Amino acid sequence: MVQGEADVNAMTSEPQSILLTGGAGFIGSHIAIEVARGGHRPVLYDNLCNSKSSVIDRLAGIIGRPVAFVRGDIRDGDLIRKVLREHRIACVIHLAGLKAVGESVQKPLEYWDNNVVGTLRMLEAMNDCGVHSLVFSSSATVYGEPRQLPITESHPLSATSPYGQTKLAIEHMLRDLSVSDPRWHICLLRYFNPVGAHESGLIGEDPNGIPNNLMPFVLRVAAGQFKELGVWGGDYPTPDGTGVRDYIHVVDLAAGHVAAMRKLDTMRCEAINLGTGRGSSVLEVVKAFEKVNGVKVPFTIRDRRPGDVTSCYADPSVALHRLGWKTQRSLEDMCRDAWRWQQSPAARGN
Ligand code: NAD
Ligand code: UFG
Repeated sequence: MVQGEADVNAMTSEPQSILLTGGAGFIGSHIAIEVARGGHRPVLYDNLCNSKSSVIDRLAGIIGRPVAFVRGDIRDGDLIRKVLREHRIACVIHLAGLKAVGESVQKPLEYWDNNVVGTLRMLEAMNDCGVHSLVFSSSATVYGEPRQLPITESHPLSATSPYGQTKLAIEHMLRDLSVSDPRWHICLLRYFNPVGAHESGLIGEDPNGIPNNLMPFVLRVAAGQFKELGVWGGDYPTPDGTGVRDYIHVVDLAAGHVAAMRKLDTMRCEAINLGTGRGSSVLEVVKAFEKVNGVKVPFTIRDRRPGDVTSCYADPSVALHRLGWKTQRSLEDMCRDAWRWQQSPAARGN
């Protein structure tokens, strides 16, 4: 820590500046709105490797005032130190990372460098600047193949891809750090399947190329960009044979971060699931989407996708007890808001 620099750890109800690494991305941009709604100032830090700067103006339109944005990489410790000091950051919500499971198998070193080395550089900078409050974007991927459902935070941890390994490695690093120094207050938020978009239709998920994930692909089929959805597996031991996941509206997920920030002072290093507790099959998602939006989503059942699990859904009771948080939005809301976003000019790169 720099001589004379006070520890700026404690979250108070006073307006504070919150650094969002990866803040221009899908989840970060929704968190920026919730942070502002909670009375704090979001400061977005992003190298734009998987997002566009145009989101900043749209966010300002939603929030009703300019949004601070710094283009930078989390591996650039000096720049992070500068931002932490200049903006008097009280807490970091750390989302920046690469997240494509398949790509991580092809490019493991890129994932370890970006996600793990990047987090290490960022933590060093936080330590140097006396900022010890951190909310980390972890994932249900750290549970590997589910051994019991619903998944509680005490479920054994494992990883089935380099991406998952990086999340697990970061969780271990953060635990070690919290043991070494009681000034750290860390919350590991393990997200289930975030989908949907802000109800304004101005921000949402905008993947490059052919989407890997279910909802973005459903949206492209509904919009006529692809002829049909390939449903990866119709012979799973589930009620309709298709895979089951815990889809969570991204605005609910974003609110979970503000709830976690408020309780950080009571935590050393704590893992908390963010999910609805309800599993939905691929076909249930397709049917809900067709019903609320009045559009057809043609599909064909294909072979299983390698590496997919049968079912995965959260036990979200720790989030309720520790954070006073639970989801408010339904699968129908997720489908309606995602489709509103898909139809907006912003989703088409305008
Ligand atoms: P996203 O790709 O939309 O957002 C991530 C942002 O981080 C992007 O804007 C990207 O440009 C930025 N970024 C990446 N590497 C960076 C670096 N080195 N320096 C600075 N910025 C960098 O992804 P998202 O869906 O918003 O995910 C956010 C976080 O949540 C990620 O850490 C992801 O692993 C985690 N997560 C996502 C999901 C999901 O299904 N979307 C599920 C579980 C966990
Ligand atoms: N699916 C299809 N067709 C598609 C895409 C997906 O049938 O075109 C199915 C999958 O087989 C699975 C379900 O839809 O049954 C959900 O698949 P996603 O790819 O949307 O999500 P996953 O649960 O496979 O993975 C996501 C993130 C991971 C993260 C994991 C747990 O992509 O990064 O949730 O949080 F690790």
